[in-house]
Amino acid sequence: MRMMGADSVAILPSAQIQIRNRDAEYPFRQDSDFYYLTGFNEPEAVLVLIPGRRYAQTIMFCRERDPEMEQWIGPRAGQDGAVNEFLLDDAFPIADLGDILPGLLEDKERIYYTMGKSADFDHQLLEWLNTIKERVRTGVHAPAELIALEPLTHDLRLYKSPSEVRTMRRAAKISARAHIRAMEECQPGISEAHLEAEILYEFRVQGAQATAYTPIVGGGENACILHYTENSQPLKDGDLVLIDAGCELHNYASDITRTFPVNGTFTPAQKAIYEIVLKAQLAAIRQVKPGNHWNHPHNAAVRTITKGLIEIGIIKSTLSKALREESYKRFFMHRTGHWLGMDVHDVGEYKVDKHWRLLEPGMVLTVEPGIYIPTGAKGVAKKWWGIGVRIEDDVLVTKNGNEVLSKDAPKSVDEIESTMAAAWEYV
Ligand code: GLY
Ligand code: MN
Ligand code: MN
Repeated sequence: MRMMGADSVAILPSAQIQIRNRDAEYPFRQDSDFYYLTGFNEPEAVLVLIPGRRYAQTIMFCRERDPEMEQWIGPRAGQDGAVNEFLLDDAFPIADLGDILPGLLEDKERIYYTMGKSADFDHQLLEWLNTIKERVRTGVHAPAELIALEPLTHDLRLYKSPSEVRTMRRAAKISARAHIRAMEECQPGISEAHLEAEILYEFRVQGAQATAYTPIVGGGENACILHYTENSQPLKDGDLVLIDAGCELHNYASDITRTFPVNGTFTPAQKAIYEIVLKAQLAAIRQVKPGNHWNHPHNAAVRTITKGLIEIGIIKSTLSKALREESYKRFFMHRTGHWLGMDVHDVGEYKVDKHWRLLEPGMVLTVEPGIYIPTGAKGVAKKWWGIGVRIEDDVLVTKNGNEVLSKDAPKSVDEIESTMAAAWEYV
């Protein structure tokens, strides 16, 4: 509210229930900004912020208590709950929104509201504004400016508080535990779906509410399809499997990728590619520290991958020429990371005034370089075909450098091979 200034109102609707098919619903997921500001996890709610108001600066419109409905679909906070449990200054039934909200907008200069998320609500708000305008002759003043709320909330969300960091650390721990489970359970002949199930099992058993995104479990060639989510094929002896999976805990994401051999032992070719990606990832993580900017980790990853691919003869060029020509892009075609928070590809600007953003304590980002060599890759020796490797960790910027939140997931060749071997020792 300090960022908004006086004479303004912010309006933030909750997420809505989404239909999956016919009358079956997707699990409800609250709007991240709404949850960030309220912790309130119900649909059909609207938060209104009125800075500087004498009475009730924070107001919630939400569903009324309804014993019959609550028996069918679960408890509601109601207006008393919104005030007493969620500490809003005041609360009204959502059904009264149209009667009360226009009055709260009168005589304000600016409305903070993000257009384009809900066509229905956009339309409704414009109608309310028009009714206020129609009444200017009675002396009321209609707000002149409609400004997106997101730049304010998204900048706040970029800097994680200690309690947010605790939740994200726990989310990363659960996901790391799930990746270990997948390594332990893996053996030739089981399916990608089987490993996906092991991952999901661990998420739920450890208390995570959901996955932060659809898990990717790609064996062999499938690891080269960046957003492979069919996860349906058998895992073959001698192949690698790439798993990109992270849980969501109390609406905070984790995002981990590990790549490991289906039979527990890397072949020399797999190991050569893996070591390049690992070296690039570690070099990139070293660049995550206050004062460096957003692109420092990416530059480090690009340089290390280019150098590595030249050394093993996949890129036939000099380092400076290959970097100039971006020869790596054929094998490493995505960015090295993204902000991480309540959304897996979290909010926050990557550039400020056209310059890469400086890293500051409290920011969390992923570091996830990869090398992908599809079968048939022209001009690349056959022994490299079908190898896809990505290694992804979640990294918090700290005062003196960084903390890898997902450090519990085995990452070196030795760690992975011994984790997998130990699981079968007594069988
Ligand atoms: N799993 C999505 C990503 O790594 O960005
Ligand atoms: Mn990922
Ligand atoms: Mn990611």
